[in-house]
Amino acid sequence: MRKPNILVARAVFPEVIARLEQQFEVEANQTDEMWSKVQFIEHLQGKEGAFTTGVERIDAEVLSACPQLKICANMAVGYNNFDIDAMTAAGVLATNAPDVLTETTADFGFALLMATARRLTESEHYLRAGKWNRWSYDMFAGADIHGATLGILGMGRIGQGIAKRGALGFGMKVIYHNRSRLDAGLEAECKARYVGKEELLKTADHLVLVLPYSPETHHTIGATELALMKPTATLINIARGGIVDDAALAVALRDKRIAAAGLDVFEGEPAVNPALLTVPNVVLTPHIASATMPTRLAMANLAADNLLAFFGGKEPVTPLNSAVLAIK
Ligand code: DGY
Repeated sequence: MRKPNILVARAVFPEVIARLEQQFEVEANQTDEMWSKVQFIEHLQGKEGAFTTGVERIDAEVLSACPQLKICANMAVGYNNFDIDAMTAAGVLATNAPDVLTETTADFGFALLMATARRLTESEHYLRAGKWNRWSYDMFAGADIHGATLGILGMGRIGQGIAKRGALGFGMKVIYHNRSRLDAGLEAECKARYVGKEELLKTADHLVLVLPYSPETHHTIGATELALMKPTATLINIARGGIVDDAALAVALRDKRIAAAGLDVFEGEPAVNPALLTVPNVVLTPHIASATMPTRLAMANLAADNLLAFFGGKEPVTPLNSAVLAIK
């Protein structure tokens, strides 16, 4: 029987490629060549499935150039690289990779919060530069985590994981804002109190962003919102670039409008706004919140599971636009 052919757009675990090869004709970009959109389309043409990694844009242009395409499985929980409406209109199923990365990403959110509030990287750079020659009472004094007010914007599974770490591990007071309020049981489990966005911005000592990116959430945090925050506050973005206006944030950090920021995601990444590189009170990491090998393997296997289920005539595990399945 003819095997469906699929494209794996970026280098991934060889064992996952081997799994896919049992059922599919696989073209795998294992040399991890960075393709332009035109090159991506060339490789995708004629393929019935795509294994994407969260950066390859699937939009109307790609879909009309690749009419054989039936499914794109993202190895990421975020799927702002997918134009879901265009995919649904073209009858192409989209899947993502939620849940398997929740705890790892929440761990990282907390690590970035602690590094930022306690000025870890700034002080390490100082030490490595050979500048440490005496003690002083205020040297790299930062902000406390324990007992502080933790604000969370976007209270999905990862936000809830961060809330629990803060409340149960560090005795923090947790407040959150979300499109929809959690039910009372979940709020109690997370020890989190729902507040309006303005109260969240004004009250949080540490504000963690975990909301999905969409045109509606573009620049959710800009100059106006930063001006509402406490001058002693820290801001952590592990959500997506574009949710924060990075240029406005660099100004706020330079002018000490807020104390510090920790950023794992950037507008236009892998490019980073050069102004952010000139301010010392920011911890910068290259989009690694889900980066542990077990979690990345689980994400890759989930994307593979979705492809295998779909072509095996079964319900995919984590579909985003199930309407497409109903039509088929
Ligand atoms: C995700 O899964 O969305 C993470 O940001 C990794 O890309």
